[in-house]
Amino acid sequence: MHIYRTGPQTERLEHRAIIPDDADAFFALNSHPEVMRFTGEARLESLDQAREVIVNYEDFDTVGFGRWGCILKASGSLIGFCGLIDLRDLDAVDVGFRFLPEYWGQGLASAASVAFGFDILRLERIIALVLPQNVASIRVLEKCGMQADGSIIDEDNWRGS
Ligand SMILES: CC(C)(COP(=O)(O)OP(=O)(O)OC[C@H]1O[C@@H](n2cnc3c(N)ncnc32)[C@H](O)[C@@H]1OP(=O)(O)O)[C@@H](O)C(=O)NCCC(=O)NCCS
Repeated sequence: MHIYRTGPQTERLEHRAIIPDDADAFFALNSHPEVMRFTGEARLESLDQAREVIVNYEDFDTVGFGRWGCILKASGSLIGFCGLIDLRDLDAVDVGFRFLPEYWGQGLASAASVAFGFDILRLERIIALVLPQNVASIRVLEKCGMQADGSIIDEDNWRGS
């Protein structure tokens, strides 16, 4: 299995696995109320917790790909993450994005991860799970060429449409 700790390059971003030295930026991102609002995840509560999440992140070692940290080339700062997660229970690979608010609205959430999934990883299908209120994320997914194809009513009750 090839391990892709480095993801795609775009004009403005590098993509690489998140490391413990990124803990401050990772904490700022994942504790931010606006960022976390529609993610369905609990906010990180401490820098120690951020370090723990980074150290325990196993996707690169177990499936060869994962969510990459997005490094703004102009500053070298970690400003978000994006990438692909193997959702085994759904038998699907999911694409996701998360950026600090000061970087929203600049088109930084691009189709690069989706293209990497199809072209390099040779995936046949990529999905995304998004809340209907998350208009910006839905728009990004549309710009990645994705189409709405179903609804999840709650975690235990699927209803396609
Ligand atoms: C989702 C996210 C990555 C989008 O990043 P972004 O940098 O704002 O993306 P873009 O610059 O491409 O802009 C998003 C698009 O949505 C549109 N948009 C944003 N907010 C909107 C709103 N409230 N109503 C309508 N359109 C909106 C923008 O105009 C833009 O469309 P356009 O390119 O056609 O002009 C960013 O909002 C984010 O990090 N959110 C928090 C984490 C999150 O919810 N992630 C997704 C979980 S599923």
